[in-house]
Amino acid sequence: MKLAYAPYSNFQVGAAILSESGRIYCGCNVENAAYPVGCCAEASAISAMIMGGDTRIVAIAVAGIGNALCTPCGGCRQRIREFATDSTVILISDNQTLRHTATLTELLPLSFGPDNLS
Ligand code: THU
Repeated sequence: MKLAYAPYSNFQVGAAILSESGRIYCGCNVENAAYPVGCCAEASAISAMIMGGDTRIVAIAVAGIGNALCTPCGGCRQRIREFATDSTVILISDNQTLRHTATLTELLPLSFGPDNLS
């Protein structure tokens, strides 16, 4: 989260994926002067995971400061879905404390995933 590039929103987000291999992949949000081109922390972490040779998310932690929980945006729920298992867990924290735990199924019920295309 401290490494985030977020000069436009000033909302820094960090993400860490625990993959099936046991390795942990991190990411942060990377904003852009052309606002829609910015990248969420979860997307950065997923890219790192794929580059590391992993394809399954056991758990993903998302950290951001604010009164409201820093839950993954809708697009990132779908990005996580692509590499999720039936038991993928999402941990929501601020810079100090774990504030909420949810399954991906809770955050994205009746989701559309790779199996829908087979
Ligand atoms: N952001 C994330 O990185 N992950 C989320 O799931 C929610 C939002 C970032 C995107 C943008 O850089 C900033 O937070 C404000 O929306």
